[in-house]
Amino acid sequence: MRKPVIAGNWKMHMTCARSRDFMASFLPLINGTPNDRHIVIAPPFTAISTISEAIQGSRLELSSQNVHWEDEGAFTAEVSPLMLLEHQVKYAIVGHSEPRKYFSESDEQINKRARSAQLHDLIPIVCVGETDEQRERGEAERVIRRQVEQGLEGIEPSRLVVAYEPIWAIGTGKTCEAEEANRICGLIRGWVGFKDLIIQYGGSVKPSNIDEIMNMEEIDGVLVGGASLEPESFARIANFNSF
Ligand code: 13P
Repeated sequence: MRKPVIAGNWKMHMTCARSRDFMASFLPLINGTPNDRHIVIAPPFTAISTISEAIQGSRLELSSQNVHWEDEGAFTAEVSPLMLLEHQVKYAIVGHSEPRKYFSESDEQINKRARSAQLHDLIPIVCVGETDEQRERGEAERVIRRQVEQGLEGIEPSRLVVAYEPIWAIGTGKTCEAEEANRICGLIRGWVGFKDLIIQYGGSVKPSNIDEIMNMEEIDGVLVGGASLEPESFARIANFNSF
């Protein structure tokens, strides 16, 4: 049984003050949400401690947006798994397309981050996905397969989430057709070779398309950017198929 993971990635949004306001509105909206799904927020590092306190006693779980592979050391601007564990962080997003693009993160580095997360009992959410040009050139499957094989080398699939995020669908309002997202997620499951692997879809997920996406056989959750910044819209997404 694959329990869906509904995760909000706040990216570089939300101060501590706004995070507190968000939680005051959001938590009551998931009071009646069925327990058949995980609900996760990935705030910026600066708001992790605030959120960790605000969600105590609630079912909301906490993710970081990245994690380093060393426990400590001279790695300016990085955050170690030990620092996250102090705040009851449970998941760590790694390999998101934004650090891949802006900071040239490689599959090798992403793999080291994912391994470090698992070593410390954090669940890595490893993001993969093709660009517009790669899709147009017919290279989408080859690119994703390389990201999966290199990024997940040595990773235990039962303590892992893979997020399929086609880059052309991120922040653009262009959602990947649910059938196509489903097909790619099925391929990923086959390449990893673990039938219970949790695979999310990400890219312009919103209240109006969540139910269709979550009805897809191979899709076990979503990684949500823009629509996770408003309590009502993220609550609608977390409450998929439960009205
Ligand atoms: P949007 O939902 O804003 O398209 O962002 C998706 C994403 O990158 C989540 O990690």
